[in-house]
Amino acid sequence: MSALRFSDTISAALADGILVVTIDNAPVNALSADVRAGLMAALDHAEKDGGVKSIVLTGAGNSFIGGADIKEFGKPPVEPHLPDVIARIEAFAKPVAASINGAALGGGLEVALACHRRHAVPSAKIGLPEVKLGIVPGAGGTQRLPRLIGVSAAIDMIAGARIISASEALKLGIVDGVSESALLADAMADIKGLDASSLRRTGALSVPAAPIETIEKTAADALRKARGQNAPTEAVRLVCLAATTPLAEGLAEERRTFIMLRDSEEAAALRHVFFAERAAGKVDGLEAVTPRRIETVGIVGTGLMGSGIAVSALNGGYRIIGVEQNIEAAEKGRERIAGLLDKAVQSGRLDTAGREDRLGRLSVTADMQQLAQADIVIEAVFDDLTVKTELFQRLDTIIRADAILATNTSYLDPDVIAAATARPERVVGLHFFSPAHIMRLLEVVDCKETAPDVLASALAFAKRLGKLPIVSGVTEGFIGNRIFSAYRREAEYMVEDGALPQEIDAALEAYGFPMGPFAVFDMAGLEIAWARRKRQAATRDPSERYVVIADRLCEAGRFGQKTGRGWYAYPEGKRTVDPEVTGMIEAARAKKGIVPKRFTAEEIVAGLLKAMVDEGDALLSEGIAARASDIDLVMINGYGFPSSKGGPMFAAGRR
Ligand code: 3HC
Repeated sequence: MSALRFSDTISAALADGILVVTIDNAPVNALSADVRAGLMAALDHAEKDGGVKSIVLTGAGNSFIGGADIKEFGKPPVEPHLPDVIARIEAFAKPVAASINGAALGGGLEVALACHRRHAVPSAKIGLPEVKLGIVPGAGGTQRLPRLIGVSAAIDMIAGARIISASEALKLGIVDGVSESALLADAMADIKGLDASSLRRTGALSVPAAPIETIEKTAADALRKARGQNAPTEAVRLVCLAATTPLAEGLAEERRTFIMLRDSEEAAALRHVFFAERAAGKVDGLEAVTPRRIETVGIVGTGLMGSGIAVSALNGGYRIIGVEQNIEAAEKGRERIAGLLDKAVQSGRLDTAGREDRLGRLSVTADMQQLAQADIVIEAVFDDLTVKTELFQRLDTIIRADAILATNTSYLDPDVIAAATARPERVVGLHFFSPAHIMRLLEVVDCKETAPDVLASALAFAKRLGKLPIVSGVTEGFIGNRIFSAYRREAEYMVEDGALPQEIDAALEAYGFPMGPFAVFDMAGLEIAWARRKRQAATRDPSERYVVIADRLCEAGRFGQKTGRGWYAYPEGKRTVDPEVTGMIEAARAKKGIVPKRFTAEEIVAGLLKAMVDEGDALLSEGIAARASDIDLVMINGYGFPSSKGGPMFAAGRR
């Protein structure tokens, strides 16, 4: 076996007439210019060397190829271009196989699709998730995948950005084999002796026929989830084109669309989100800190929030001890958690074996002493300072000295809760968003005394739950609710100044929010914020601007959707403008002598964006948030800010 090197990232070895070409471009073997040039050089070599009968492509480490190098987007393109490398592989006179040893995503799968044979490890992740970056596959994915698996399945994968397992890829016909133990040997055995004249070249296949209704339904499903973003729509169009257009024409149209989308604002925003997610949860100086071992999780309170947290932790593979005040409440809590698991089974997200496995790891008890076994205890009880401090004092005497205490408070000061314990350094905030088993966002609150290894443990725990952890310092409402409060305040100022709630909601919904602020207030209920305002009334600065309209709504019993009336009326559940509310708004303006002015949709969006950004800047300067991109992720994942706009901080920078 002789070793060859074709570039910094591409090496090869010849064994038994097979040139095994390895892509080694850590961390994910992305298709950088050096990788593309190295692959071309390896093909040159294989073409000329009579000793090379066939080629196997594989990746070093845990990835086959993670895709095009996203960091190169936005920079001047460098030859050779990926479509040219891929076209050359497909047309190559000698057999080329892909030995898919891990993620084959985006351009990575496009390389594999052009190979003549494909084998994968069972853990391989296979997909064309480009639409998540606001683009379509740009190196043949939309044209070759439907030739292999049909238009409908290709739309489902590409427009839905669905990443599938090796076994599903085998069923669909994307890979030719799944290797349990010896992938490379299997791929080599498979290709050895393959006759060049009988190679199956994906681009030469015709697209299997399928009923138009099936295609239309898959497309409609995918586009509904895409909420008006451009890339999924274009992906559907391009995949359909594959069925009616020769390969070369389809590829040209795909490339043109890819370049147009790659250079769009939407793609820039989604790339920002991609890198923001990778940066999230990274804390300077914490890399070298070893997290504590967490296997058993105690959860005090198994109501709506606690049961969601329990399901999330069960999904993460932990053993759960739920604690309630008495046996009846414990039984109810257990039923609630089991009910959530049942729902997951009904919707196909979980199989019955998974449900049984989770229930086997769950106990719910009225005996708090059981928490002596826990490595971390999360409280999810009523958000009241006395309740929480007393609970923490009690827990402090029950749990092991090295166990962690986490509070799920939304608005209370966790430093005060921590100070009530003998070991405040083991206290951390875990602010879950409801429903906790569904929402990805988790604010990890680094309290004044939190020890570095406790913070590192909380972050590792969050990752194992599959959450997106964002570290926040201590401030009222943490990152998300503080920005949301500023947003709410500004929206109410605008109403007082002349915009109507429905105009504000319409502007925000057209911008990309699933719901405008007033519809959200009605959905969440107006009474909690009202109670808070009443508590704060005595200490409020009288010179501060205060809008009374929400108070008037509550005084009139309009607490939102659940009472059928709030900022809107809800006859038969349908959000409807209520002239009574308009009257209350006009009366409040008149009382202050405000002459209403008109707001355009653009002014509404700009004003609310500015309020969010000003608050975001304050959070950054106070050191509560570490990076602007963390603020963007909080608003996108917790408050419905459209990801296609990149979050408020990013969007403001683009305006
Ligand atoms: N280009 C550049 N950098 C990439 C990258 C890519 N395609 N994919 C991942 N990275 C970087 C990340 O930014 C991160 O960098 P950091 O360590 O500096 O923060 C590092 O690789 C590791 O990434 P993850 O933390 O995500 O690692 P995981 O092991 O959890 O996941 C993965 C690996 C499944 C490959 C995941 O990174 C992923 O999903 N990557 C993106 C896949 C993708 O979208 N590919 C399509 C790209 S566009 C394309 O191919 C266009 C083509 O059609 C022409």
